[in-house]
This record gives sequence, structure tokens and C-alpha cells, in this order.
Amino acid sequence: MSLEEKLNKLEKMRTEAKLGGGEKRIESQHKKGKLTARERIELLVDENSFEEFDMFVTHRSTQFGLDKQKPLGDGVVTGCGKINGRIVYIFSQDFTVFGGSLSEAHAEKICKIMNMAMKVGAPVIGLNDSGGARIQEGVVSLGGYADIFLLNTLASGVIPQISMILGPCAGGAVYSPAITDFTFMTKGTSYMFVTGPNVVKTVTHEEVTSEELGGAVVHSSKSGVSHFACENEADAISRLKQLMRYIPQNNLEDPPTVECTDPFDREDESLNHIIPENPNQPYDMKEIIASVVDSGSFFEVHEDYAMNIIVGFAHIGGRSIGIIANQPAVLAGVLDSNSSIKGARFIRFCDAFNIPLLTFEDVPGFLPGVDQEHGGIIKNGAKLLYAYCEATVPKITVITRKAYGGAYDVMNSKHVRGDMNYAWPTAEIAVMGSKGAVEIIFKKEIDAAADPEAKLKELTDQYQVQFANPFSAASRGYIDDVIEPKTTRSRLIRAFKMLETKQDSNPPKKHGNIPL
Ligand code: HXC
Repeated sequence: MSLEEKLNKLEKMRTEAKLGGGEKRIESQHKKGKLTARERIELLVDENSFEEFDMFVTHRSTQFGLDKQKPLGDGVVTGCGKINGRIVYIFSQDFTVFGGSLSEAHAEKICKIMNMAMKVGAPVIGLNDSGGARIQEGVVSLGGYADIFLLNTLASGVIPQISMILGPCAGGAVYSPAITDFTFMTKGTSYMFVTGPNVVKTVTHEEVTSEELGGAVVHSSKSGVSHFACENEADAISRLKQLMRYIPQNNLEDPPTVECTDPFDREDESLNHIIPENPNQPYDMKEIIASVVDSGSFFEVHEDYAMNIIVGFAHIGGRSIGIIANQPAVLAGVLDSNSSIKGARFIRFCDAFNIPLLTFEDVPGFLPGVDQEHGGIIKNGAKLLYAYCEATVPKITVITRKAYGGAYDVMNSKHVRGDMNYAWPTAEIAVMGSKGAVEIIFKKEIDAAADPEAKLKELTDQYQVQFANPFSAASRGYIDDVIEPKTTRSRLIRAFKMLETKQDSNPPKKHGNIPL
């Protein structure tokens, strides 16, 4: 064969590989509102930056007639490309080839790029669209999944791992995305469940559709399995690219900085008036976040889940930070099991990847109730506490209003290694709210009073003036400074700059035992 003929053969094989399961199946994929594996990659990476590996890999099965069907690439496109100029490793499952199902060879391709990503120190992005284990292959396919799960676990905290669910993801297959750091889903075209509607119907007699059982909206609002519910694939990919702007390539790097055109010393007068006179009246913490960070830079994570806590990334003075904030506009900003877990997982991601933490605090305490107690608020609240205690990145807190009880300790107090702890003059740092405190410590006086209601009010007002302020904490150095709200942005920029070279560590150990 001449070189020309050899090159022609190569070109022919490439064309064949790129066609995946063929025109008809590609058409059917498009009809479902889905892109193909390669179209997704094109949309994700910088132009012409994708380099594909293992295009000629085929499966090794011979049973069920598979020896006569050996599609090149075996249902997954793998390789590396660049997003905003930075390297990422990608696998993109091709539903047009055996429904994107995972064979031994398919799994090996994924493991290859994961291993390479760990050596190079670059993120892995998985575009999932698969019918699960390749049924014809049996146990070798299950082995392939386990190989991926192991690498997901070993890579956790070393390189960022991101999953996009763009089609089916069922059975044990869900456990790879579950281990990764962030999961994106598309509304109407993706679903995740351990057992599908048919099995559910047989076992529990519940009738439910795939979307109701494990669609994007359910997982991003009820279960918390997904961090982002996206309108469609283009929306998902664009949001993923946004996320990448805040995170480093690996655990040994600092996050990237961006140019900041928002003045460092910008003051916002409205912050001086945002806290209502009445301590029971809500306000929107997101307004404070938006005002303090670089203009338009807040990127919320888990927006629809446990909305009593807000988590997300932002830039401040051009630097990446992770924000955790109580949201007084939802359930008064109380901490419950779900919000504790949400906060803890976010903190641990940031700490693993050198992203400084900023906490905005207005929390009346932990949510009382039988449901919460029986649901394990003790161990779940402890997750948030543990995550804050363990984190060694720069940690700054701003108490805007309530910091009551155990929640005061938990939300990055000085005692759990908060580096800079600020309070607004409106802060109330106490064991509990004034009325509750007075009812307990002055019970006898109130009961004995001619007008108990009036006595309660009088004592509550006195207590409020005496204790519901930041100065008792500041007098002990638990609060480093009481700041005028409108100056918060410049104070934070200065503080994060000061903490840039912070060094801290935990005692050497194999690993801690976070209360799971
Ligand atoms: C081999 C599969 C496959 C699979 C789909 N296909 N799933 N081939 N193994 N797991 C093939 C189909 O035969 C078909 O081939 C093509 O992919 C498209 O499938 P359709 O059924 O036509 O598509 P659709 O109607 O969209 O339905 C998609 C689906 C369904 C819901 C995913 O295919 C399905 O239920 N598949 C089986 C899912 C399953 O039970 N998987 C095993 C789960 S257990 P042709 O040639 O016609 O195009 C598991 C364990 C993991 O994954 C364990 C890890 C520890």
C-alpha cells in the first residue's frame, strides 16, 4: 500500500469514527433536543483546541453478535481541549453507539484520560449520556464502572471533576457523577436514578415518570444531587464555562485572577440601610453579596436547593472567593440538615482547591423540630462545623445581624480559625434572641409581675440594648472590627490581600472522620 493509500485509509477510518452510530441515530438524537458527543465538545472547548485520543479503540466482545458490530471509538469520545485557554480533559459518551453504554474498552478510555489529567494537573469534565452498563458484556462492564469510581475517588481534591448529565444516567452509573465536585443537568432531556420508574412501580407501587423521579428540577431542588438545572445543553455548557473562571487547575495551584474594573473602594450607601429595624423582618442577603463583590461576578451554586443558605463563587478585587451566606429571606436563614450539608460540601471544595472563603452571617440558630432531630440535624450540622474547622484557606466572616447560639460558633467564628471576623453595628451576637433569653432568665419576675406582658417587653428591650450588639464579642477580640456596612467591599478586599500569604495546616493524619 502506498503512503497515499494509507493516508486515505486513515481518513476513511476517521470519517467512520466521527459518524458514531450513523446518520439515522444522529437524527434521532437531534430530534430529542440533544446534541451529539462531538457537537457538545465543539461547543465546550476553545476553537480547534480539541485533541482526540483512542478514536480507533473497539470493544472485544464476541457474544450476542457483537463481533459483527465494532464501531470505532466504542461509544465515547475522549481527549483534551482548552477552555478559556486552560487545559481540560473530557469524555463525552456517544448515545448513537449502543446507547452510549459502558463497555470494558469504553471504561478504559475514560480511565486513560482521568489518569492523564491527574498527572498533568487539569480538570476532568464528563459529558454523560448513556444507557448504563453494556448489557452484552456483563461483569467486565461492571468492572469498568468500578475502575472509574476508584479514579473519581483518588482524583477527588486533586483535580476538579465536573459531570454534565445530558441524557440517561441510571443504576450504579450515577455514582461517578455523585463523587465528582459539580453536576449539571438539562431540563427535560436528562435524568438520574438508581432504579427507574418500572422498578419503582414493581417494588413500591408508586407511579412516576422519569422526569418526576430523577429529572433536573427534582435533583437540583429536592435531592441536591445536581448543582445546576439548565434550560438546555447550550445553557449547561455556557454555565460550566463560567464556573471554570473561578477554579484552579488542581490542588497545588491558586485560582486564576481576573482583571477588576470595579473600583476597590466603591462604597454602597444602601448597605447602611438594608437591615430592617424589626429583627424578625427578612431581607435578601443576595443584595449584600451582589453589592460587595466585583460587579456581576457572583456565580451561584445549588441555587434551588436548601435556599436558606447561599453558596457560590465570586471575584472580589479580581480574586476568586467562595461565599457561604445565611439567607434571612428563606426560613429566617435558619440552619437545617440540608443547608448544613450544602454548605459543608461547598466549603470542602473551596478548601481543597485553595479558594478563600467569605461568610455572611445572619442566623437565628438550628431549626427545631422532630423531623430535623430524627433526620440527624446533630450529625448534619456537625458536617458544616467540621468543614469550617478543617478549612485552612483564608476565612473571613461578616456578621450582618443575628449570630445566635451554636450557629454563631459554626459559621466561621474566630474560635474555629476565622482569620478576620467583622460585624456590622447591627449585629446581635448572643446565646439566643432577646425575648427567648429574657423568658428563661427572668421567668420568676415575669410571672410575678402585675402585667407580665409589659414586664416581658421592658426586660426584652433592656436585654436587647445590653447584649444584642457586637461589642461584647469585640471586647474579647472575637470580632476584629465593627465596620460601617457601606465600607464592606473595601475592607474585604484589603483583608483578603493581607491574607494572601496565609499558611496554616492540620495535624498529619491518614484522613479525618467527617460525621457522615
Ligand atoms: C447495550 C444498549 C444499552 C445497554 C441502550 N442500548 N442501553 N445497549 N447496553 N445498557 C442500545 C439499544 O439497544 C439501542 O440500540 C440503543 O442503545 C438506543 O436505545 P433505545 O432503547 O432505542 O433508546 P431510548 O428509547 O432512548 O431508551 C434509552 C434507555 C433504554 C432508557 C437508556 O435503552 C434502556 O432502558 N436501556 C437499558 C438500561 C439499563 O438497564 N442499563 C443497565 C443498567 S444497570 P440500537 O442498535 O437499536 O440503536 C447499570 C449498572 C451499572 O448500568 C453498575 C455500576 C456499578
